Amino acid sequence: MAKQNRLLDAFKQTKYQVIGHGSRNVQTLIDSLQTVDGQQDSDVYGKGAIIEGFQTKIAQFLGKEDAVFFPSGTMAQQIALRIWCDQKGIGKVAYHPLCHLEIHEEDGLKTLHSIESVLLADRDRLIEFEDVLEMDEDVSCLLLELPQREIGGQLPDYETLESISALCREKGIKLHLDGARLFEILPHYQKTAAEICDLFDSVYVSFYKGLGGIAGAILAGDTAFIQESIVWKRRHGGDLISLYPYILSADYYFHLRINKMEQYYVEAKELAGMFNRCHAVSTKPVIPMSNMFHVHMELPKEKVEALFLELYESTGIGLTSSVREIDDQSCYFEVSIGDQYGSIPKETLDRAFNLLDVRLAAEH
Ligand SMILES: Cc1ncc(COP(=O)(O)O)c(C=O)c1O
Repeated sequence: MAKQNRLLDAFKQTKYQVIGHGSRNVQTLIDSLQTVDGQQDSDVYGKGAIIEGFQTKIAQFLGKEDAVFFPSGTMAQQIALRIWCDQKGIGKVAYHPLCHLEIHEEDGLKTLHSIESVLLADRDRLIEFEDVLEMDEDVSCLLLELPQREIGGQLPDYETLESISALCREKGIKLHLDGARLFEILPHYQKTAAEICDLFDSVYVSFYKGLGGIAGAILAGDTAFIQESIVWKRRHGGDLISLYPYILSADYYFHLRINKMEQYYVEAKELAGMFNRCHAVSTKPVIPMSNMFHVHMELPKEKVEALFLELYESTGIGLTSSVREIDDQSCYFEVSIGDQYGSIPKETLDRAFNLLDVRLAAEH
């Protein structure tokens, strides 16, 4: 069996796992439907109380005029950027080199919409005010991802966000928020979702990241923008006759976990501290800014996997199900805290980290 699968299998068999909410299995849907009234009418092609009520609720939470539910963020964001490009008549958008649209969507934006991307900043740092100020290209929209997932969930200062927002308004550039993990950053900024979203013209949020639902996204903005996005959703085949399994579960997990983000954030900082005290390990960022961070290890991937297999078996603690190679001497993995971390006995966790440190010291 490949090492990667052995690690995944070993991780699944651990008694305690530091990341996530638990297995991604069908129970996620079953749990969310326990208290649902089976006589409620289904939504039909974007109409009906289930979908309209949820859209209104999330629009209010985000402080936006209107919102529409999409099956995926991929669909919602390509559509948002298309609308802003059509409105300005310039098929160009600016975003980070590690933006989801640039590296995970098979060039959907370019192939389906003929929209060019202008990459701001370097791969390993955030977009700063100066990057936007010095941008030569005229673009229709700037997309900011908060937090920037591929560099460990880093966030700019709030003042930087405010100044970028003001600059975009001045330059006639729409500002779009990739808020796949927006709920997870509220404790760090100590702001409401509405305060943050007020800096943006359009916003996408996800219901299956920190909230742990099944799938689904909301795109929010002013009413004219949302009306256009509904037409595009139809064109993309995203207007499923019934989306209620996604909406009911999104609603359930929104209420279950929206007030737990502070806890996940505090726990992420605690766990990052434990990793940083180990030999040859550092987290990015050093102090997490949300419930997520990356763990970098100065050891070859194969060595880390072998060490983890042993650690999982002897302590019952699972740290990750996969490790990604950086080069032949280093690797990293992603951590995002959910419900599982809080149920691990402290002594068991301490024991696992002591053992990890001893093993890493021996390797170095
Ligand atoms: C930052 C970011 N944006 C957008 C998406 C797309 O979301 P979806 O899987 O709903 O298409 C993801 C998904 O992982 C993401 O991490």
